Amino acid sequence: MQEFREWGHKLIDWVADYLDSPETHPVLSRLQPNDIIKALPTQGPEQGEPMERIFADFERVILPGITHWNHPNFLAYFANSSSPPAILAELLAAALNANGFLWKVSPAVTELEAVTLGWLRDWFGLPADWFGLILDTASTSTLHALAAARVMVAPETRDDGAPQGLIVYCSDQAHSSVEKGAMSLGFGRKQVRLIPSDSEFRMIPEALAAAIAKDRAASLKPCCVVATVGSTSTTSIDPVQAIADITERENIWLHIDAAYAGSAAIVPEYRWLLDGCERADSLVFNPHKWLMVPVDCSVFYCRNKAVLRQAFSLIPEYLETSDTGVNLMDYGMPLGRRFRALKLWFVLRYYGHAGLAQIIREQIAMTRTLQDLIAADPRFEICAPGGLSVVCFRLRDTDETNRRLLESINAAGEFFISHTVLNGRYVLRIAVGNMKTSAETLKSLWEAIRLFESLVVKD
Ligand SMILES: Cc1ncc(COP(=O)(O)O)c(C=O)c1O
Repeated sequence: MQEFREWGHKLIDWVADYLDSPETHPVLSRLQPNDIIKALPTQGPEQGEPMERIFADFERVILPGITHWNHPNFLAYFANSSSPPAILAELLAAALNANGFLWKVSPAVTELEAVTLGWLRDWFGLPADWFGLILDTASTSTLHALAAARVMVAPETRDDGAPQGLIVYCSDQAHSSVEKGAMSLGFGRKQVRLIPSDSEFRMIPEALAAAIAKDRAASLKPCCVVATVGSTSTTSIDPVQAIADITERENIWLHIDAAYAGSAAIVPEYRWLLDGCERADSLVFNPHKWLMVPVDCSVFYCRNKAVLRQAFSLIPEYLETSDTGVNLMDYGMPLGRRFRALKLWFVLRYYGHAGLAQIIREQIAMTRTLQDLIAADPRFEICAPGGLSVVCFRLRDTDETNRRLLESINAAGEFFISHTVLNGRYVLRIAVGNMKTSAETLKSLWEAIRLFESLVVKD
């Protein structure tokens, strides 16, 4: 244990230095495909190796292959933060190595999950009787929603397999995880209707109603509507109240994908983001996207716990228990489950509701300032209303020039931003989500963009 103690101290110091100054590393890894594979032996070691050598290789080989999500200039995809309390909780979770499939194999894993998800449900103002579960990703959570919806609409699925003609609806802006979930569960991609969205990238409810009517007329079985609160490209918010009017009337499962924007609803002035979501059957949001919790941590809420159980419970003899504890294995696909609630609990307690709300509030405010700066420059156009922590914009020029602009910014190594395509046009996208990103960071990024703009356009 002496060696563990020594290395534990060393590594905590290393992590503290890293978190203090992630900007000493290039934000985007400079490696080429296979560089890491080529740098490491093809055969595992026959004998154990000393920690010195392992750690030296971590710094020499692995670290250059890391793109630093904790870097303040990481502004791509949905940037997020791994906060210090969460990192310490991950250390404890690995030490405890609790695998919480049954209540009795670690009551704290099950009950801390219930407690933390209860706190969040309360901060969100969601119904108190909703059942919550922590899964690895939003993709998995949405797959669970689709499986539950399928069992609700076609209970025979459990024993006979799914009937033909079950239909899933989402907007043309929905995350690909909806189609992937439908592919994995055997609905088939052709049974996913991509409902058109309006000029602000929100699902058009009239088009949804028309699609459902058309499917009913063809004797198909509408099964699940996925509404997005905070779409991946533009953070657009589908009109959940109008969609819920349709799903309630039609008796179709309504799942809300709030993977990214859900976190913002803990800020009292952004609670409206979830207006109408209390009428849904299920909802996913990812603390690992915007709540200072490192990957992985996705929260899945479900109104009807019994349907989820019907979709997933299958208890072999060796897992039978006689206690009254809730066994989370009965409500989802995986048997084994990591103690993810521990890091969530550390974060919720360390920052508190007000502290987390303030971080998100400030990130939204600094993103707005950046968006205003870009909007004020006639060479650029803002391509989506935004309003949260993402700005979508482009040069008033060709797609090719915009692509070159993005490549130049990222190749310079100081910033990492990403892109999307909106209305068929290539668009640059900046996402703020790291706790170390400041108004100054965004000002420097804007200066860098303007510099590259002059170089790229002159070329
Ligand atoms: C709206 C939305 N839903 C789902 C996902 C998938 O998230 P995960 O990586 O947790 O599966 C994303 C990822 O960015 C997203 O933006």
